[in-house]
Amino acid sequence: MTTHDDKYFKFTLTKDHSVGLYNTVVDDVYHSIYGALEEAQEKFIEPLDFVNNFSNQNHIRVLDICYGIGYNTKALLKKIIQTKYKGKVYIDVLEYDKNLVTISPFVKDTLFKTYPEISYILSYSFLKQIYENRNNVNLIMSDRNNRKFFEPFYCSLMKKYYYLGYSYNPQSKYNSFLHNIYYHCISQRIKKPLKSFKLNNFILTPYFDDARKTIKALTNKYDIIFLDAFTPSKLPTLWSLEFFNELFRLSSPNCILVTYSNSVAIRHAMVDSGFFTGKLFDKDNRHCGTIASANADLIKNKLDDYDVGLMHTKAGIYYRDNDLSSSAQKIIERYEKEKSESNLISSSQFIKKHKTEKNLCHNMI
Ligand SMILES: C[S@@+](CC[C@H](N)C(=O)[O-])C[C@H]1O[C@@H](n2cnc3c(N)ncnc32)[C@H](O)[C@@H]1O
Repeated sequence: MTTHDDKYFKFTLTKDHSVGLYNTVVDDVYHSIYGALEEAQEKFIEPLDFVNNFSNQNHIRVLDICYGIGYNTKALLKKIIQTKYKGKVYIDVLEYDKNLVTISPFVKDTLFKTYPEISYILSYSFLKQIYENRNNVNLIMSDRNNRKFFEPFYCSLMKKYYYLGYSYNPQSKYNSFLHNIYYHCISQRIKKPLKSFKLNNFILTPYFDDARKTIKALTNKYDIIFLDAFTPSKLPTLWSLEFFNELFRLSSPNCILVTYSNSVAIRHAMVDSGFFTGKLFDKDNRHCGTIASANADLIKNKLDDYDVGLMHTKAGIYYRDNDLSSSAQKIIERYEKEKSESNLISSSQFIKKHKTEKNLCHNMI
């Protein structure tokens, strides 16, 4: 019981006290060190303007691409609970790492004390998968280096049920494991839980495969899409024009897609897929991502002439992945080749030209 296959990720505590991860293979962080939960809140939830854009709908369909340990979904659930949204919420979870999804209800995320129902919703939704992956879940959670990154309640519960060999009974989700969680998270802590909050309004469906493969088979139209893939230059597989074409196909007319990336090439791929695209700013007015929609009215800070100009420089060349199955290396090679053979001006030339023209205009006034 000393080894398990989670060594490709390492836990860390981020500055808002939620747990973050680092991937040793991709050499990239899953979350901002400034706060995993705060990042989800700022970059993925605030831009949705949930109350104005979604609270009147009788159901909401969400696509969480690259769920990881679920901060974007968790932060959205928090928003839904806060705003007392009463409709059904369908969340399709795309993540090829089953370990992450199945530990996600149990990770310390600072929400447990104030919104314990969130971890219950996740435990309830992923119960079957947690059971199937119980060996890894238990190994990850019981590793003494990891233990501090999980809620103590869940550590002891997992230990107890793992060794007792709790069994998942598909006929009744309310088996004793879940019942313990329900008791701890809901009935003991929330007064009149079923009146204030309908737990069965939340339908989360995990898909454990390459998101490119999953997406081709999806047919629903989504109202909200989170795209939280690793940095494009490190893993471009979920940032190609062809991937955005699929996202556009899956967008409802008022769908909002949000991502943390500010990349010119990514925005260009979104625009060429049919999306209206805009910039996101954090509370200090710094760029913090991109928003896209088929409905131009939902984009507050639209791309301006300067942004569009940049798209038509070498920096705006996007990744290509014709049949959505190329390796990351192949995608990068094709991209590098296209860039080296391109006659477009470089972004630095464009910026210089833009500054000169701006100064000229300024001097003429
Ligand atoms: C930056 S992290 C996302 C963090 C996540 N949103 C969270 O709250 O923890 C990127 C995630 O994408 C997953 N991933 C990367 N490429 C993928 C692919 N092609 N298909 C599905 N999941 C992928 C990784 O396993 C990782 O969990």
